[in-house]
Amino acid sequence: MPESEQPPTACPDRHIRSFVQRIGRMTPAQERALTELWPIYGVDYSANTLDLDVLFERQAPRTLEIGFGDGELLTTLASRHPERDYLGIEVHSPGVGHCLLAAQTAGLTNLRVISHDAVEVLRTSLSAMTIHEVLIYFADPWPKKRHHKRRLIQESFVSLISSRLKPGGRLRLATDWEPYAEWMLDVLMASSDFRNCAADNRYVVRPEARPVTKFERRGNRLGHVVRDLEFERLADSV
Ligand SMILES: C[S@@+](CC[C@H](N)C(=O)[O-])C[C@H]1O[C@@H](n2cnc3c(N)ncnc32)[C@H](O)[C@@H]1O
Repeated sequence: MPESEQPPTACPDRHIRSFVQRIGRMTPAQERALTELWPIYGVDYSANTLDLDVLFERQAPRTLEIGFGDGELLTTLASRHPERDYLGIEVHSPGVGHCLLAAQTAGLTNLRVISHDAVEVLRTSLSAMTIHEVLIYFADPWPKKRHHKRRLIQESFVSLISSRLKPGGRLRLATDWEPYAEWMLDVLMASSDFRNCAADNRYVVRPEARPVTKFERRGNRLGHVVRDLEFERLADSV
């Protein structure tokens, strides 16, 4: 059952959240998807470690998308690459419902979603070196200075991501908020776990294979420059 449907529980982990939990308006179809399709694609959050081979019923390269929004990119990639497994994390229930509907329409069998804070999921549910690729696209930029502490990309979270990635694995990010692009670049360049894949140690060219999302379209409409970052998880960093 998605998180927002469950009664609130005391949170032992008091870290600053990168999101504000909104109930959000859900369409009847999304509501139905959360009930009927959750048993197929949904993974209830618990403090137990997930066995991804059991979850996907096979061994395959695995991509994790953090903050998948409505799942447009996640389901597109999962359709294009049946040879890979896709795990998505998102806290916004209408987006999760939308993603489940798209997964059903595409007949996906290589997708699972978790509706919970990604920081906690990485900390407690994922084992070290189990993920081949992490995607974080158009994360909330929290533009006001007093909110910078809410930004998802922080030294501690980058170190957590690094520990869950396999050596040689990739962390890919994109944003249309230039100050956040610079922030992410600074945080990642300061990490000895990662190597910047950009020739000039800054941004990579927009990967053609990255599907456009709602937030990228919005950024384009506003005339924002979109920055893509790609980092390789180094072999000897853990
Ligand atoms: C600006 S939206 C971008 C959505 C999508 N990646 C896209 O490009 O369309 C950021 C999303 O990240 C989600 N999010 C933020 N912090 C999160 C966290 N700690 N765990 C899970 N989801 C999170 C939000 O709910 C929101 O849907």
